[in-house]
Amino acid sequence: MNLLGHVLRSFTQELKDKTNMCAQRDAMLLLCFGLDLSMNEVYLDQNRTISKTELIKLKKLLERRVNFEPIAKIIGKKQFWDSSFYVDKTVLDPRPETELLIESVLSNLGSNKTILDLGTGSGCIAISLALALSDVKITGSDISEEALIVARKNSKTHQVKTCFIKSNWFRNISKKYDIIVSNPPYISDDEFFQLPRDVKNYEPRIALLGGPDGLTCYRDIAHSISSHLTDQGVGYFEIGQGQRCDVLEIFSWYGLSAVDVKKDLNGIDRVVCVKKDA
Ligand SMILES: C[S@@+](CC[C@H](N)C(=O)[O-])C[C@H]1O[C@@H](n2cnc3c(N)ncnc32)[C@H](O)[C@@H]1O
Repeated sequence: MNLLGHVLRSFTQELKDKTNMCAQRDAMLLLCFGLDLSMNEVYLDQNRTISKTELIKLKKLLERRVNFEPIAKIIGKKQFWDSSFYVDKTVLDPRPETELLIESVLSNLGSNKTILDLGTGSGCIAISLALALSDVKITGSDISEEALIVARKNSKTHQVKTCFIKSNWFRNISKKYDIIVSNPPYISDDEFFQLPRDVKNYEPRIALLGGPDGLTCYRDIAHSISSHLTDQGVGYFEIGQGQRCDVLEIFSWYGLSAVDVKKDLNGIDRVVCVKKDA
């Protein structure tokens, strides 16, 4: 007879031996998801019997994690800012460092009324801003139709009126916005091969790869941003480690200057804020 507490311990041990990641947390999340229980229920009901069918299902989930599939992709959700977002293999799992974009926009909002989130993916940025700012019109865009399906699903779950558009950066965008926010793909070809297996094998490449030097998307965006940003508008862009100077040079080439650069919790330059030159 298999008891819940025993399964929890054996899953934790197997994950510890084979993945060297957050074994205890992952085992708990797999059990909660597989048995549709809360963490409290798993802790308090360790003598619950696990049926053969349940065990087969749980072992399949464990195998996916042992093969380095991200836990968020297995359980289909990821916490970001104040909310939980549905995720699948078509979108990047929202990252904690991207919350700095939300913090930056919210701390500097003024009387801005329109926001565009370029490369919205799961919609985590657009929807988090929509939840925080009820009187602001927010649009999310992405080149991936599959990502837009996920973003719309999240928007419906969170009951926000965010509009989502399919567009290759600005190609199908006609309006101007007070704020343009984006976490574009910024991994270079060299960096891609160094990425951990859970990222390299399971996150969509279109969400990661930023061309040979990682900067192609900034060049594409900077090329057209002036026609889509209001005169006093601000652009907020997440950047990769060590990209600050190159990204600011790209924007300055197209007539935009840095108004701020923010560091993430590890002290890495993570968000650049740019405005049109006067
Ligand atoms: C790094 S992910 C960011 C996803 C989400 N905003 C987040 O922060 O978690 C980059 C997103 O840009 C989208 N993307 C890639 N190339 C694009 C393009 N040419 N035009 C529009 N979106 C693009 C990808 O599909 C992906 O959803």
